[in-house]
Amino acid sequence: CSRDDVHAILGRATALKADLAAGRRDPVLAGCVLGQIFDKPSLRTRGSFEAAMLQLGGGSLFFTGKEIGLDGRESPEDVARVYGGYADVLAIRTFKQSLVDTFAEYAGVPVINALTDDFHPAQALCDVMTLQEHAGSLEGQRLAYIGDGNNVAVSLALVCGLLDIEVTLAAPGGYRIADDTLAKLREHVPSLSLHQTGDAREAVAEATAIYTDVWASMGQEAEKAERAAAFADYQVNADLVAAAPEQAVILHCLPARRGLEITDEVMEHPRSLVFPQAENRMHLAKGLICWLLDR
Ligand code: CP
Ligand code: NVA
Repeated sequence: CSRDDVHAILGRATALKADLAAGRRDPVLAGCVLGQIFDKPSLRTRGSFEAAMLQLGGGSLFFTGKEIGLDGRESPEDVARVYGGYADVLAIRTFKQSLVDTFAEYAGVPVINALTDDFHPAQALCDVMTLQEHAGSLEGQRLAYIGDGNNVAVSLALVCGLLDIEVTLAAPGGYRIADDTLAKLREHVPSLSLHQTGDAREAVAEATAIYTDVWASMGQEAEKAERAAAFADYQVNADLVAAAPEQAVILHCLPARRGLEITDEVMEHPRSLVFPQAENRMHLAKGLICWLLDR
């Protein structure tokens, strides 16, 4: 996506959110089918995509990778060509980015990355939509991301780079976004502005938003204890929020591990946007699918 594409998606999502608030659910996706494949659990992503299709008059299919034959029953290229024949758009949540890339090459319809080990773009688009909605504009936004340099952090860095939002990531050494990954990201988004530090208080000092995510992502369950020890000084708690400017809002993609990366107090803070952010996943899903299908 270009910067203009992102603005077009956010604009459509915001307009569709306003329609819903006014009681309008125009069936602009009537007859359209979203085909989903999920190899990891999901509430927000699966739920928001399916609700988006239903509210706009379309429908969705859902399979796990195993059910659809991606366990070796059939080649991914063949599955992509067949499933793409049944759906107008596909959404895939899996481990390896290469599976999404194969589908994008063979399915013949748009393929949405619904989270891989490397990226979570639908989340990042929702996050900037939430910031824009809250602040009225994205101008002057500065995001402090406290935690693992994971799929969520990478996609946030990319979309923020496109929109000229500065990002500071605070994480212990070894858990930041690697230099070679950053170099590849900058090939796509030369304006990407990411500063990485080991100091969480420095990261939030001028932030307009503080963001965190789990320390151990899906697929990293065996590293939970090791990561909890490494990230012990990187909890988003009341002390850290107090070190940020008074207006700074709190974001989390969810699910949250309350008491680890974020405290109850901060989840429930008056400036916490985590639940409106989660709701925005559905509005963003609508905007994204309508944009992809030119509806
Ligand atoms: N934020 C997010 O993607 O949540 P789910 O894992 O529940 O889809
Ligand atoms: N980084 C997390 C995000 C969950 C929405 C994971 O990949 O599990």
